[in-house]
Amino acid sequence: GRAWTDVGDLDEAAAGRSVLIRGSAQLFRPVSKKMAFVVLRQCMSTVQCVLVASADAGVSTQMVRFAASLSKESIVDVEGVVSIPKEPLKATTQQVEIQVRKVYCINRAIPTLPINLEDAARSEAEFEKAEQTGEKLVRVLQDTRLNYRSIDLRTPANQAIFRIQFQVENKFREYLASKDFIGIHSPKLISGSSEGGAAVFKLQYNGQPACLAQSPQLYKQMAICGGFGRVFEVGPVFRAENSNTHRHLCEFMGLDAEMEIKEHYFEVCDIIDGLFVAIFKHLNENCKKELETINRQYPFEPLKYLEKTLKLTYAEGIQMLKEAGTEIDPMGDLNTESEKKLGRLVKEKYGTEFFILYRYPLAVRPFYTMPCYDDPAYSNSFDVFIRGEEIISGAQRVHTPELLRKRAIECGIDANTISSYIESFSYGAPPHGGFGVGLERVVMLFCALNNIRKTSLFPRDPQRLTP
Ligand code: 4AD
Repeated sequence: GRAWTDVGDLDEAAAGRSVLIRGSAQLFRPVSKKMAFVVLRQCMSTVQCVLVASADAGVSTQMVRFAASLSKESIVDVEGVVSIPKEPLKATTQQVEIQVRKVYCINRAIPTLPINLEDAARSEAEFEKAEQTGEKLVRVLQDTRLNYRSIDLRTPANQAIFRIQFQVENKFREYLASKDFIGIHSPKLISGSSEGGAAVFKLQYNGQPACLAQSPQLYKQMAICGGFGRVFEVGPVFRAENSNTHRHLCEFMGLDAEMEIKEHYFEVCDIIDGLFVAIFKHLNENCKKELETINRQYPFEPLKYLEKTLKLTYAEGIQMLKEAGTEIDPMGDLNTESEKKLGRLVKEKYGTEFFILYRYPLAVRPFYTMPCYDDPAYSNSFDVFIRGEEIISGAQRVHTPELLRKRAIECGIDANTISSYIESFSYGAPPHGGFGVGLERVVMLFCALNNIRKTSLFPRDPQRLTP
């Protein structure tokens, strides 16, 4: 095959070279019968291609007309020579031009697209400025974006968001593998609810009632019973959420881990500390282009975090809230608003937007959570927050069958639907604990985006099953 060049690799060092590139036609500017500009886009990068009719270069006026008549978003191949432009180009495009020799249209897009990509890529500030100057710009609504997601995904910010997501997932695997965790895959068709509550999709499995897994919880624990010591899983999680919020999906990507505990469940918190500091560092150091690209459309402050992650007890958290005028039931749970407020208070006091809150009241945690040894009204559990929103929950688990059965019944779970899980702890099970992370939430909150639908490729929410 011929040598193809990536648009993102075109720079001054390539000046004078003949290249072959493929991209989506983003913009056409016919200047005259003899000259036209075409901007080609590939992933997060764009390059300006110049067509000038000239017998020497083998470029005809028909070719110029053909290029100028292409529809936006058509897939186009260009052969040409890299040149340094006379005047500097916009900072968002490659700093070289292509003097086109040949242009081929590989697949035409329809002339009128349901989304104008230029508008889809604008920042809120641009719309506000336009309103002041009287320029007519139309915002692309979230629903329209999601209805035509395969076009919407082409904006530079979206290209960057999903590259960041991929890096988080990769780093999660890489870091845990380096700490002797092994990757597992647990079933998603299961016989009973794993997290309890109403948020479960029910279905028929060969005539038997079944559920879509609300988490790998029961199976990652059974893998620990199976002798694996330390396991993790990256896989889909299904929740029949009936509320429409900015942070709930009906299907999301769960990053789960489970491990033997030798002495204290803080061993699990230490893994989270090392893991997330490694993820944040990696993103800040190795994904600069992606972060800048997201920032251009959705400006945000870099996440503040400490080298050693702050841990506060739930009681300390509600005390901080109390001092700031918010009363929380000490045996209840935090709501979204109080979590946000606590996030702000912690940021002011400790200078971090990433922290662990531990020792929650047992009553607000799932049945499999280990009660505190010194006071069973509390539990060996924790949540982890970014910018005042939960991204992780975790805990030490009950590892004796008697207590587990009792806790399931107390929490209103039919112990018969999970009897093989409970029995697993009768055959010798080590103390263990773990945690579950929502991948979309991590990316949303690291980049301070306002809606989880922005970090899900094809989101599933209570209203949406297509595309
Ligand atoms: O807090 P959750 O429900 O905890 C569990 O599933 C436990 N089995 C985890 C454990 O190991 N103890 O979910 C874990 C994380 C949340 O912190 C949140 O980031 C994300 O999953 N999450 C959701 N993300 C998007 N949409 C939803 N509906 C989510 N529900 C939870």
